[in-house]
Amino acid sequence: MKLILEQAEAATPLIRVMKFRSASGNALSGYSAGAHIEFELGDTGKRRYSLVDWPSACDLYTVAVQREDTGDGGSQVMHKMSAGQTIEVELPKNNFSLVDSAEPVLLLAGGIGITPMISMATQLQKQSRTFQLHYRARDASRMGFADSLTEAFGDAVSLYLDDSNPLDVAALMRSQAPNTLVYLCGPRGMIDAARAAAVSAGLPESAIHIELFTTAEIQQGDTAFEVEISDSGQVVNVAANQTIIEALESAGIDVMYDCQRGDCGICQCDVISGIPDHRDVVLSDAERESGRVMQICVSRSKSPRLVIDI
Ligand code: FES
Repeated sequence: MKLILEQAEAATPLIRVMKFRSASGNALSGYSAGAHIEFELGDTGKRRYSLVDWPSACDLYTVAVQREDTGDGGSQVMHKMSAGQTIEVELPKNNFSLVDSAEPVLLLAGGIGITPMISMATQLQKQSRTFQLHYRARDASRMGFADSLTEAFGDAVSLYLDDSNPLDVAALMRSQAPNTLVYLCGPRGMIDAARAAAVSAGLPESAIHIELFTTAEIQQGDTAFEVEISDSGQVVNVAANQTIIEALESAGIDVMYDCQRGDCGICQCDVISGIPDHRDVVLSDAERESGRVMQICVSRSKSPRLVIDI
C-alpha cells in the first residue's frame, strides 16, 4: 500500500519521528504492539521500522528512525523524505508480539530498539498488567522520548545512559521474579549480554523474546562454503560476502524468510550434516549446541559444506 508522510519532527539530533497516513484516504490497517512495517526505499532496498503507538495515539502510522551515517543508507533515505512524499510499504507484520499472560513483564530496550517497546508498554498499561520498561542508550543524542516515556508510564520507566548512568544488566536480571517474561530489543551486543544475564539469573530461555536492530553482517575472516539441498542434491556456492538466503535465491531456489536478522525464526532449516556457525538470537543454547537446526539468513558454516533441509 502507499503512504504519505504527513509530518516529521526531530526527537533528538539523530532520531526523526515520522507520521504517515494512507495515500488512498482509506483507514490504515490495525496492528498489534511490537509490529513493524517494511518500506520500499528504491535502490536502497527494503527497510523495516517498528510502529510506535502511544496511549494518546492518533490514526496514523508512526515510526522513529535513527540516522546512521556509516550505515547502509536506509536511515539516510528516511531522514531525507519530505512531508507530502509518497512511499510504498507492506502491511504491518508482527514477529515480536506480547504473550497473552498475567505474568510480570520486563521490557529492555537499547538505543532505537525503544520503538516497539513504546507500543508494548502502551498495550500493557491498557491491560493493567505489571511491567517495567528499562531503556538504555549510548548518550543523550541516541535517547529519544525520555520525557514522553516518563509522562506516559511514570515509575514503570527507568532510563540509563552509558556515559553517565550505565545499566547493570546482571543486577537487573537478578532482581526479576522467576516468572517474569523478558522482551529485549536493540543491538546485538546488548541482546547477547542481556540474554546471558537473564539465563544466569535463572530465568528460563523460553521466557526471553528478542528483536534485533541489526542486519546480517559479514565478519572478518568469513569465507565461501557450499550448501547442498538434501532433497534435490543441488549444491550452491555461498560467497564470503553473501548470506545463504542470497546464494539460494540467486540459484533460483525459493526460501521462506522475513527478518533477515536472525530473530524471527521463519528461515529455520534442519541441518543434515556439516557444522553451522550460528549468528542468530532465536535458538536456545541447547539447539545451537545440537547443530541440527540453523537460521540461514544470518548463520554460516564452519565446515566446507552444509547439507540442509529447506
Ligand atoms: S528470516 Fe528471521 S531468523 Fe531468518
